[in-house]
Amino acid sequence: MVRRSIVAGCGAYLPDRIVTNQDLARDLDTSDEWITQRTGIRERRIAAEGQTTADLATAAAQRALEAAGIGADDLDMIVLATATPDETFPATATRVQAALGMTRGAAFDVHAVCSGFIYGLNIADNFIRVGQAEKVLVIGAETFSRLLDWTDRTTCVLFGDGAGAVVLTAAEGKGDSGDRGVLSSHIHSDGRHHDLLYVDGGPSSTRTVGHLRMSGREVFRHAVTKMADVLGESLAANGLCASDIDWLVPHQANRRILDATAQKLGLAPERVVVTVDRHANTSAASIPLALAEAVADGRIQRGDLIVMEAMGGGFTWGASLVRW
Ligand code: ACO
Repeated sequence: MVRRSIVAGCGAYLPDRIVTNQDLARDLDTSDEWITQRTGIRERRIAAEGQTTADLATAAAQRALEAAGIGADDLDMIVLATATPDETFPATATRVQAALGMTRGAAFDVHAVCSGFIYGLNIADNFIRVGQAEKVLVIGAETFSRLLDWTDRTTCVLFGDGAGAVVLTAAEGKGDSGDRGVLSSHIHSDGRHHDLLYVDGGPSSTRTVGHLRMSGREVFRHAVTKMADVLGESLAANGLCASDIDWLVPHQANRRILDATAQKLGLAPERVVVTVDRHANTSAASIPLALAEAVADGRIQRGDLIVMEAMGGGFTWGASLVRW
């Protein structure tokens, strides 16, 4: 028998304010047609003034805890993936811990930008596997709107705000790919690509928050190949093949990246959970947001094989295979 991490519940939260492509085109030299054709994005949510990453994360976490049927004090750990913390320190996870009323365990942030949720899931799964935790809350939450240069049409149209969360609980499995829970996660990074996607500020360099800068075309090229590589790696590690996948729940950066990834896997487009049209790219939040949607509407069923994958600044990238 082996210890596994079962997804006991998931939840999501989106800010109320919807900003459409037409809204952006009023102040920016862009158009709904350009944005839709190049990215598949139609609208995004933007956090209200004063609404922080911790607020979004707490709302998503409360829904995930409710779905899992456990209280905050049952948790041993909170792992919060974000590139947009409320403050430079302390970790935003500790704000969420306090807001949830959790008075025990540990809470910390993980920073891997768009791959943050996969990194967080991998870390939480390992804590559970070695027996150091029984119940872990993994959150992806971002207020990317605060990092954007709203005069730069090449970046500001691509991102949105939101949060998603899952509760992992320990369970016994046989140790094969038929087990429920996280089968495996695979994470990578390559710091040589810093200049293709980064924020031009930070406490230790400029003492400012800075703005997101990106060479979109180059990022796109790397994303498609790295996604395919890590998906192949995760299937091979479990003796599975692409035809075993029930649902691909990818990081939602660009509809064309999702289509290219599905095509490389030979996966039918209806097997890919897509939210990029309504959420845009919410970085670390995009996978748990998509997951929560597909669970809530009944697409994802117990026993289904789910593949999650992401790539982001760093570069960082990774994939997780989960039997629901
Ligand atoms: N509206 C209108 N025109 C625009 C806009 C806009 N919002 N943005 C750029 N353009 C113009 C450019 O100025 C350029 O004009 P030019 O030819 O006169 O110079 C033209 O459109 C083409 O620009 P490209 O950057 O070459 O367009 P491309 O087809 O590569 O699409 C995009 C750009 C959508 C950013 C694409 O490269 C992409 O999605 N890349 C992936 C980036 C990404 O998703 N990053 C997120 C983080 S990493 C991740 O999550 C995978």
